[in-house]
Amino acid sequence: MIKGFIFDLDGVLTDTAEYHYLAWQELAKKMGISIDRVFNEQLKGISRMDSLERILAYGNKSDAYTKEEKLQLADEKNEEYKKLITKISPRDLLPGIKEFMAELKQADMKLALASASKNGPDILNQLGIADLFDTIVDPAALANGKPDPEIFIKGAKQLNLTPEECIGVEDAKAGIDSINAADMFSVGVGTPESMKFADMFVVDTAQLNYASILANIKDR
Ligand code: G6P
Ligand code: MG
Repeated sequence: MIKGFIFDLDGVLTDTAEYHYLAWQELAKKMGISIDRVFNEQLKGISRMDSLERILAYGNKSDAYTKEEKLQLADEKNEEYKKLITKISPRDLLPGIKEFMAELKQADMKLALASASKNGPDILNQLGIADLFDTIVDPAALANGKPDPEIFIKGAKQLNLTPEECIGVEDAKAGIDSINAADMFSVGVGTPESMKFADMFVVDTAQLNYASILANIKDR
């Protein structure tokens, strides 16, 4: 029986991908690396340091910086990102999210956040939905990021539920892989191509609906 929903943040509840992109682009430029939106797709869902490593590898500069310098560069990106997200407000909730969360609360579902973002708690506050969540997985305490199942397994544990009692919602391929590996039902938001490994998907958050997700689980 389904008792909880575990959400990704970026690209599911709000669209911060563009802000992450702009902040990385600025940093990459300083390092003499040019990235575009197509490249940015592979940064979705992965941690700050993993993102930096991918950008450096893309620019053939993986060995150009020491570990300390890399931490400094990641900090620099985060400072820029934090400037860009100060204006996030409840108006930035993606279409249908408010209604979907109200349905879940009505059905007594427990809610957890499983985002790789260390800015997750601040963003939930700015979106005005922090109170709806029973728990937030701390990404700083993870041994392995998505696609490893750890973050979704921890989310279920923090809700005092088993993975089978939870549904994970994600927009990134790494995130769907993480949910599936946790033995949890995966709901994707995205194109059929990008969401082909999800147990079910919608193309738009406006189509997220509690009853239709439950119907899909029964069909399995
Ligand atoms: C999310 C985003 C990634 C981002 C990561 C870490 O998963 O999709 O693009 O790099 O969080 O975010 P942070 O706010 O901690 O830098
Ligand atoms: Mg995401």
